[in-house]
Amino acid sequence: MVRQINNLPGRHPTLGYQVMTSTHLHGSGSFPQYDGYANDVTGPGQWKDYHYPNHQDARTLWYHDHGLHHTAENAYMGLAAMYIMTDELEQSLPIPHGDYDVPLIIQDAMFDERGNMIYDDHSHSGLYGDVILVNGRPWPVMKVERRKYRFRFLNASLSRGYAFRLSTGDPFWIIGTDGGLRQFPQRTTTFRQSMAERYEVVIDFATYRTGQRIVLENLGVQNAVDYDGTRNVMAFDVVGDATDLRGNAIPDLLNPKPPAMDLVETPNLRTRRFEFMRADGQWAINGKTWHDAADSGYEYVWADPGLNDTEIWEFVNTSRGWFHPVHVHLIDFKILDRNGKPPFDYELGPKDTVYVGENETVRVIARFGPHQGKYMIHCHNLVHEDHDMMAQFRVGRPGGGDDPVKAAPCRDLPSPEL
Ligand code: C2O
Ligand code: CU
Ligand code: CU
Repeated sequence: MVRQINNLPGRHPTLGYQVMTSTHLHGSGSFPQYDGYANDVTGPGQWKDYHYPNHQDARTLWYHDHGLHHTAENAYMGLAAMYIMTDELEQSLPIPHGDYDVPLIIQDAMFDERGNMIYDDHSHSGLYGDVILVNGRPWPVMKVERRKYRFRFLNASLSRGYAFRLSTGDPFWIIGTDGGLRQFPQRTTTFRQSMAERYEVVIDFATYRTGQRIVLENLGVQNAVDYDGTRNVMAFDVVGDATDLRGNAIPDLLNPKPPAMDLVETPNLRTRRFEFMRADGQWAINGKTWHDAADSGYEYVWADPGLNDTEIWEFVNTSRGWFHPVHVHLIDFKILDRNGKPPFDYELGPKDTVYVGENETVRVIARFGPHQGKYMIHCHNLVHEDHDMMAQFRVGRPGGGDDPVKAAPCRDLPSPEL
């Protein structure tokens, strides 16, 4: 249980909107009332207790604001962080743990000459900062020993996608994706990562000499606005031999049964199509926006899989000139294909967010459970999500499952002792 208390001022000091928040634990199969539904808001002077099951496979989750229409501003200005879940399997593997297991929360930002953050989303198209922050610091340098490290990459940017590589051009290993450890490690020299995706990456600094600097570079992706400063993300300075060599391996088998990866396409499975598009000057999904959900009293759903049904969802990007990271709440999915071709090797692990690039069609397969109720699906360019590329689906029969807003309402301060 986590108590979220909204101690923010009634109005945002520079942007002027009323600061209503809703906390989403991204990657968790939470009940609807604890999932950060956009309209389940906690206002200034209010609080709400969130219950999390923590029963999924070990994984890198993150939590961020999901309040209606101002998620982007709120997440950009700090309401976003990582949440790491472990389990016995993950702990028992000889992969890097402890000090050698390092979160990297990567964001871009823009500052004025006094150091205040600038929010400019270019008429709701996207925000592209010229400063790269890792764990809140601009272009940090990390001292590393000559051994393997595991980095949990989270792209917490609002609109910027990245294509990472090392300045040496050397390969590294992807051992995990959004939903935790992959079945086996995948070697690569580069990977692209859209907003909200997570990759667990092992880099072996034993191949470098003491005193060497290795830079984590960003090659950039289509339709991200690049600056000189966005080419580099951070650097690693090799300071000496390893002081501890436990957990310095990458086993061939990581997780025998990662979630969703056992799902297979069969001809009788239901397929649904979601078109990510521009409609009437708004970002829309199948021509509709969150306003259509609101107009229906939040009853309208874009899809209604039965509890524990397996379905194929097809995400089609017809908006030209934009990529959309598509995120489905509640479930993990497996990527089947992209434009009819196999997905990238590094994407072959349990996922909840997928990079749907320009003119791409991506098909994913998922089992819809374990909870019934209404959940969101949206573009994780949070500027698009707020205006209004967000939809909802319902698992199970109409009226089934807990109501996301009414089942656990927020309360006014003061909050009782925990
Ligand atoms: Cu990370 Cu609905 O979001
Ligand atoms: Cu989520
Ligand atoms: Cu988008």
